[in-house]
Amino acid sequence: MELIDQLRAEHDLIEQVAGAFRTFARQRTRGEGDAADGARFMAFFRLYAGRFHHGREEDTLFVSLQRDAEIPGDRGPIAALLGDHQRMGGILDRLEPIVGSDPVAPEAEALTLDYTEQLWHHIDAENSVLLPECEHRLPRHGVRELPSRDLDADEAAACDDGRALLERYPPVHEPAILRGDGCVMCPAFVDNCEGLERAWWNEHEWDELDDHLASG
Ligand SMILES: [Fe+2]
Ligand SMILES: [Fe+2]
Repeated sequence: MELIDQLRAEHDLIEQVAGAFRTFARQRTRGEGDAADGARFMAFFRLYAGRFHHGREEDTLFVSLQRDAEIPGDRGPIAALLGDHQRMGGILDRLEPIVGSDPVAPEAEALTLDYTEQLWHHIDAENSVLLPECEHRLPRHGVRELPSRDLDADEAAACDDGRALLERYPPVHEPAILRGDGCVMCPAFVDNCEGLERAWWNEHEWDELDDHLASG
């Protein structure tokens, strides 16, 4: 499904630019880097990651899951992922006025590290749970393709800027952040999401599991 392939490819870029944003924030705390690049990072996450990428997840993918595959939107993975979009947008709201300050604002690095760590966990959950499940589930409900759209001029400029920032502020390996696949690795699984099976599986799918277990 083309939209899902696009979302996956976009995750690859967003994930890397998130790493670059962390490098930038740490450099700024040390008095290094260029304060003006803060606004460029902000444009990338607002316009490319937010308006373009999260936008198509919300207005196309999540809509189709609810409308065509009868997946609940008010609980489980969709509610958790929508909550992530909103919470991460809230961190950007707090970061926006200070991200380009010179000298650096004391809380800018912590907010940047928090935002990007949440974004990484969000991408892991979508790549390992949401997108594979959509590829499997939507065609069973007759949905073989979903509409997408091109970047508009502002989003395309933000995307190009993100790639340039990635060269300028190379991400570093961060072994302290535990990343991984599946619901058990998703922070929402502990807080407000009961996991894919409980939220999305229908009676027939549970019966299939019972049959599978019974047959050994
Ligand atoms: Fe998302
Ligand atoms: Fe995403």
